[in-house]
Amino acid sequence: MIGTGYVGLVSGTCFADIGNQVICVDKDSNKIEKLNSGISPIYEPGLDELIKKNYISKRLTFTTDIQMAIKLSDIIFICVGTPTKKGSLNVDLSFVYKCTKEILKYTKKKKILVTKSTVPIGTGDEIEKILKKKKRLFTVISNPEFLREGEAIRDFRFPDRIVIGSNENKVFSVMKKLYLPLMNKGAKFFMTSRRGAELIKYASNAFLATKITFINEIANLCEKSNIDVKDVAIGMGLDERIGSRFLRAGPAYGGSCFPKDTKAITVTGDIFKTNLSIIKSVIKSNEKRKIFLTNRVKKILSNKIKNKRIAFLGVTFKPNTDDMRESSTLFMVPFLVKYGAKITYYDPSGEKEEFSKYKSVLFCNNIREACQNTDLVIIHTDWEEFKAIDFKKMFKNKKIKIFDMRNLYSPSSMKKQGILYYSIGR
Ligand code: UGA
Repeated sequence: MIGTGYVGLVSGTCFADIGNQVICVDKDSNKIEKLNSGISPIYEPGLDELIKKNYISKRLTFTTDIQMAIKLSDIIFICVGTPTKKGSLNVDLSFVYKCTKEILKYTKKKKILVTKSTVPIGTGDEIEKILKKKKRLFTVISNPEFLREGEAIRDFRFPDRIVIGSNENKVFSVMKKLYLPLMNKGAKFFMTSRRGAELIKYASNAFLATKITFINEIANLCEKSNIDVKDVAIGMGLDERIGSRFLRAGPAYGGSCFPKDTKAITVTGDIFKTNLSIIKSVIKSNEKRKIFLTNRVKKILSNKIKNKRIAFLGVTFKPNTDDMRESSTLFMVPFLVKYGAKITYYDPSGEKEEFSKYKSVLFCNNIREACQNTDLVIIHTDWEEFKAIDFKKMFKNKKIKIFDMRNLYSPSSMKKQGILYYSIGR
């Protein structure tokens, strides 16, 4: 596994756990040192234990020595980052091509080279061009990953599908053998062309982002028409053609995947002279949502933000991760600070350096501390521990306003407790 970021480390550890001999390589010696002393550089529930278990059993090793790792491996997974290029919507593939060149340099025997990183249509073709000097030694295939942060180990063990894209049929049986333990538990194995697999990944993420944005806009309509969006989502989801998942209305979607991948696929569309207008409007709608919800915060505070105390419960883009990338709080918090709000926040994944530059933003060690003397509590992330807070007990008889951006509580029971409760699409 080349790259011990999210994809490489989780997949590598899980591959070891189903009985393979796995070498995880990274050029960052600090990371490798940490891993070799049993510390995971990323926060993912269950990962630490799994790393330790497979490290002790010697199925999983960590190294900076890419030459040795390539020499010893039959299958090489490229799991390096494909971030958005600065000042562009497109992805930066320089890490992918750089490590391809290293693989070329050190390969002497036949290898299967797999892209697991999310890469646009035609990246496999470009990789083949780089490898052309030793063309006969390589089969380049695409095997996109569909892991969600916070649920990655479960997603690896019980995937809906395994997608393998190759232009050479003979490689499918090798990959089937690798994934057999997961197929035995019900995962579907889908074979397609290499370009097809590359697009499946982007199209899937763009579709899920569309589903979320769709329900968020329906939530706006529900707010105006006195309908509960939760009921609408359930009613829609009961149709198997629609499905109930990814229909939870909330803040703008965030994370390291949906925002990046939706932008990148529209660029691919433009390159192929195809206007992906639906995805383009999803991106716009999601951006507008950040402003829309911040304006609702303003309205809840009767447009008087100056010196108001606002407590955020959860600031990460989703629960069970410490990841702040593209979290809508990165828009909301600075905006509210600019207009004079005093912010306290508590997130179970800890303090965030993104907010350390703001004097009026304070990290608290628990829910109670964050909510003390506050004018408004915003539930931003649906962490488990925010789902059953006894607000009445916590605030005694003080009149309190709560803006629940994840619809964790029932409006009627909040009303009964005398809490001024605001939520999404209800
Ligand atoms: C996403 C995909 O779900 C994975 O299948 C994919 O492998 C991954 O991207 C990737 O490309 O690597 P992830 O970004 O970890 O996974 O997180 P999700 O659970 O998909 O959530 C993304 C965003 O959508 C979050 O901000 C979350 O709060 C939001 N969301 C999700 C909703 O607002 N409503 C929903 O119903 C579901």
